[in-house]
Amino acid sequence: MAQMRNKQVLLRDHVTGFPKESDMNIVESTITLKLPQGSNHVLLKNLYLSCDPYMRNLMNKPEGPPNSRAYTPGSPLTGYGVSKVLESGHPNYKEGDLVWGFTNWEEYSLLSSAQILFKIEHTDVPLTYYTGILGMPGVTAYAGLFEVGSLQKGEKVFVSAASGAVGQLVGQFAKLNDCYVVGSAGSKEKVDLLTDKFGFDGGFNYKEEPDLDAALKRHFPEGIDVYFENVGGKTLDAVLLNMRLHGRIPVCGMISQYNLTEHDGVTNLAQIIYKRVRLQGFNFMDWVHLYPKFLDFLLPNIREGKVVYVEDIAEGLENGPSALVGLFSGRNVGKQVLVVSHE
Ligand SMILES: NC(=O)c1ccc[n+]([C@@H]2O[C@H](COP(=O)([O-])OP(=O)(O)OC[C@H]3O[C@@H](n4cnc5c(N)ncnc54)[C@H](OP(=O)(O)O)[C@@H]3O)[C@@H](O)[C@H]2O)c1
Repeated sequence: MAQMRNKQVLLRDHVTGFPKESDMNIVESTITLKLPQGSNHVLLKNLYLSCDPYMRNLMNKPEGPPNSRAYTPGSPLTGYGVSKVLESGHPNYKEGDLVWGFTNWEEYSLLSSAQILFKIEHTDVPLTYYTGILGMPGVTAYAGLFEVGSLQKGEKVFVSAASGAVGQLVGQFAKLNDCYVVGSAGSKEKVDLLTDKFGFDGGFNYKEEPDLDAALKRHFPEGIDVYFENVGGKTLDAVLLNMRLHGRIPVCGMISQYNLTEHDGVTNLAQIIYKRVRLQGFNFMDWVHLYPKFLDFLLPNIREGKVVYVEDIAEGLENGPSALVGLFSGRNVGKQVLVVSHE
């Protein structure tokens, strides 16, 4: 019975304010690579982990109603990942299957099969894609834009955090629908990606715009039909002044607020009434049932090169804390992936 080293990334303590690498530590435990007798669990070798902004919220000291996914100090972080099944006590999975779903930030995990979301059937695309374009961020972009945002052909679309895991897809999906698309991002390199790689009509670096309202008016003289909200705060406030009649704002995330102890106020909410705007929050898990339809839509577009994806790959669990923390200063260019093992 093989005893293996099992490197893990643990949360050291609950976090207030901006997360730091030192909020996590790397430990080496051991694991027996054998399912306990009669277990219906699965034993996984983790290959690729997804670094996601929501993970910051799970590091908070829990307040209010309990969140079953909140992290516990001294325990490994959890998150989306791509894994290989080493042994399965559940009839739906067998040795060698590739799967994606919830796993732990460690080399090997013994988990309930309920943690697995999907078996990976298409391996002609990079496996890392199942942490991003073909995983949670992809479905989020798709459901947020088409279902929550009710996107119509030819509309005017603005997306923030536009070069990131979700944002780069929002823009490309909207372009497939003949929309006019502009994004905001935090560096020249990222803004160049929007127009040169992802085919956006325009972009701006929000860090260099003293007046966000003026920047939006420059790009959207006739206003915005759909704002895909990823950042919140000042950007949302400026967007509200530029929405068109019956515009929609699918609220995917508000990363600018996750680390603040005092949140930015939003002062232009009355525009929602004047412009009859629909502002609606949503969560990927509410739309996971769309996954087969989503794959039918996206796989041909990937294979034909009509949708591309930029990833930022960090190698090794020991680089997990810095990769995760980097999301909050915009260090990642594209989807932040963490490689645990290539096979
Ligand atoms: N509702 C859901 O189910 C769901 C699912 C997935 C993601 N989300 C949300 O979607 C958003 C994007 O997630 P993602 O995975 O695609 O991340 P990402 O864009 O790949 O990475 C995060 C990016 O956020 C930007 N950022 C960081 N701090 C910021 C600030 N203070 N103000 C403005 N921008 C800031 C940075 O880009 P810049 O360099 O451009 O600033 C950073 O690269 C997040 O808010 C996330 O929580 C929600």
